[in-house]
Amino acid sequence: MIDTDAPPLHLPETYAHGVPYEYYRWLRDNDPVACLPHPRYQGEKLWVVTRHEDVQRVSRDAMTFHNAPDPFMDDGQNDPASGGSELLMISLDAPDHIKLRKLINKGFTPRRVSALGDMLRQRTNDIIDGLADRDSADLVHDLALWLPLHVIADMVGVPEADRAMVFDWTEKTFGFDPTTTAEERGQAAADMFAYADAMCAERASDTVPRDDLMSVLLNAEVEGEKLTAFQIELFFMLLQNAGSETTRNLITTGTLALLQHPDQFELVRNDLTLVPAAIEELLRFSTPVIHFTRTAAVDTELGGHHIAAGERVLMVYASANRDERAFTDPDRVDVRRDPNDHVAFGAGGPHFCLGASLARIEGRVMFEEILTRFEGLRVVGDPASFDRVHSNLIDGYNHVPIEWDAIAPAR
Ligand code: HEM
Repeated sequence: MIDTDAPPLHLPETYAHGVPYEYYRWLRDNDPVACLPHPRYQGEKLWVVTRHEDVQRVSRDAMTFHNAPDPFMDDGQNDPASGGSELLMISLDAPDHIKLRKLINKGFTPRRVSALGDMLRQRTNDIIDGLADRDSADLVHDLALWLPLHVIADMVGVPEADRAMVFDWTEKTFGFDPTTTAEERGQAAADMFAYADAMCAERASDTVPRDDLMSVLLNAEVEGEKLTAFQIELFFMLLQNAGSETTRNLITTGTLALLQHPDQFELVRNDLTLVPAAIEELLRFSTPVIHFTRTAAVDTELGGHHIAAGERVLMVYASANRDERAFTDPDRVDVRRDPNDHVAFGAGGPHFCLGASLARIEGRVMFEEILTRFEGLRVVGDPASFDRVHSNLIDGYNHVPIEWDAIAPAR
């Protein structure tokens, strides 16, 4: 049965007032592998998978469910001329995916990530110190976006002076502001590509390679072949987008969720050893990446339905993370939840988030400092009226006004 009354899950407007958790609950209970008319491709089906167990099954069975041609749910607002998403690492399958992932992994080894520790603390405290003579701010633009932006820029090798510009391009390629036109999105992608080319040209004449990811990519060889300029451009865009926009929303929606659950806020504030568990819970409760798709490579069966080769399957992480079958009292924030088998970084399999340990360490430092340095931190206004990002992929806000009584000096 094809459900023709479903909300259009590809349209960013469907998420304008928040992720449709009630609809997901209905699906989990009544139609957990739902067959919808594909919102973008006339006559095709979209299988919407909402239970935790089924999302894991699809995510982990990479032989049956492929990432190619791409795992995005096209919102119909991209400039087709900007193209290229089918060549991103996240759009590839074995063996090409494995080769590229091995290569980029060099930049994300646990040693490299934990070596960022002191720098993260310093950056975080600098961001908060910058607000010391104020008593109000925008949680998104004054606080949450800077740490992930600086960290990924440091790793990739983007100089400080260019960071605001690069960030502006990432915002535009996502189309987070609904007034951004398809042409502007395409132009932002083209600007990013040109910028990546210029970075490569600068590094091509280095006699000693720099210790940044752009140099790693430029000098890397996959089975004796160098990456093409276009592959490097796409990596640059993927790292900027995946590295900044997701973690920024963990910090924003996570802080907001804690402020809306003052008992949980106080629990963590009084015992900072709870921060890592709290982050997992905030990732579960306010899942930053709402879903990804896969395409069946062969005929298969899921939840009693026949899925034909070539049909698209939507894994709704935000629904799996609220599945009553996997979590007790899933709509409650419980910073001590254990176990917490959430799927916010993906539900396992070869594409599991490459930046998960980086996001966790960034979140940890940020939450520790926000919780301890701000006194009397509060939200100004009704969160239901706050401007959310215009996206079918990312859950987060464009602006969240906050105020406070005082900021304590860095410890
Ligand atoms: C809270 C923050 C983050 C969340 C919620 C998140 C979520 C995700 C999800 C759901 C996936 C797809 C997993 C799958 O298909 O199995 C993914 C993939 C990916 N993420 Fe993250 N991510 C975050 C932070 C980061 C950071 C900081 C980076 C650093 C650059 C990053 C880089 C990537 C890359 C490169 C991929 C593609 C991996 C592949 O195709 O093999 N992510 N992420």
